[in-house]
Amino acid sequence: MAESSRVLEELETLEVYGDTTVGWDAHTPVNETVDEEGNPASDRRPGFGVPDLRAPSQRVYDHPDVERLRDHLRRNNGIQGIEICNPDEVERAARIFRRDGFVVVRDLLDEEHLATFRRGSAKALRQILEVPGLGKRKYVTESGRLPHRYSYGTASASRQMLHEAEWAAMVDLPTTTPILAEIFGSMDYMVLGAGGDLCLPGAVEYQHLHVDVQEANQISERRLETAKNIGIEIRTEEGSDEPDLATRRRIIDFCPAVVTINFAMCDLTWENGPIRQILGSHTWQMRPPPPEDEPDWMRLSTLVGAPAGAGVIRDNRAWHGATPNLSREIRSLPNVEYGAPWLGSQHKKTMPHAIWETLTPHGKHLCRHIKAEPGVWPPGAGVMHPLGAERRAAAKRMGGSGERRHGSPGG
Ligand SMILES: [Fe+2]
Repeated sequence: MAESSRVLEELETLEVYGDTTVGWDAHTPVNETVDEEGNPASDRRPGFGVPDLRAPSQRVYDHPDVERLRDHLRRNNGIQGIEICNPDEVERAARIFRRDGFVVVRDLLDEEHLATFRRGSAKALRQILEVPGLGKRKYVTESGRLPHRYSYGTASASRQMLHEAEWAAMVDLPTTTPILAEIFGSMDYMVLGAGGDLCLPGAVEYQHLHVDVQEANQISERRLETAKNIGIEIRTEEGSDEPDLATRRRIIDFCPAVVTINFAMCDLTWENGPIRQILGSHTWQMRPPPPEDEPDWMRLSTLVGAPAGAGVIRDNRAWHGATPNLSREIRSLPNVEYGAPWLGSQHKKTMPHAIWETLTPHGKHLCRHIKAEPGVWPPGAGVMHPLGAERRAAAKRMGGSGERRHGSPGG
């Protein structure tokens, strides 16, 4: 059977949990990235294609390099004693979130929501992977990313997934809303977008540590208001109305602009590419180390043990990165991204009006700044493609500006 028809057959039954033959493409060189048009880009490595020079030499399941890394991960991968909250432990979850820059909460999705999100994630991934690969490669790598790693957000020509009912259905859940309201100190936070990231089995490289959102170190009146709402005591400099230094630091530390929930479609194991989060790094003013300087403890600081249906609620300033998936299972973490109540109202209108109308009253309120007008389809929505040039062309055809988009809140 020709390689391309074998790939299509695999995709027909693709699921984002359980064993699969998808991935492990030995014909896609380790650390190879492609440009906007799909040409291998060996020297120019924009964005998320930073090479992992410690990666196994080949993308082969039982290659000795892979076996060595697998042994190491089996013995050492995962944060020791990671705390996993129940959804009703709202205050505890918020406390851990503020301390660590993230918190894992189990059962954010009930069985029905998990099944829905798995279905939506698999459908979107099929669209990304069905584009025929170059030469003998099974798939097209996403522009500017390492092989076998994709972002639902950046692979969508609208840059978001809120045109999909499966993503929209997750913005306001009885399990997530109380925790988000506790973190933001108000019900007036907002949805900014939705996407998420995934890696196929055989993503043998570590993604470099990064932050999704930089701290601007500004305290507006409304951010100060949020600080009071979450119980920060405002102490002022002597003889002034200005908050003192310790107070300003607390406001910056505990009032993030963006919080993302990534939902686990499968159990995160030592082997299947659990996301790594660096404890406490949401408050750090320095940059994360480049891959060559990253100590092993950071590479092993992963969320092993988070079960399917759990979510990691994370401060987007916290250092994080994806890790090798040496298993036979796709590791998919679709997400919803929330903005603080003190953010402005200017955001891309990526949710069609008809989808917005299906939401709960609070869901409608959350999506107030990103819903399109009735009858206006968000440019690019519905087109999934690994290549930047194809996405830009599609968005332009559909009436958008087709501008270049970078960044990855996803993973
Ligand atoms: Fe990220």
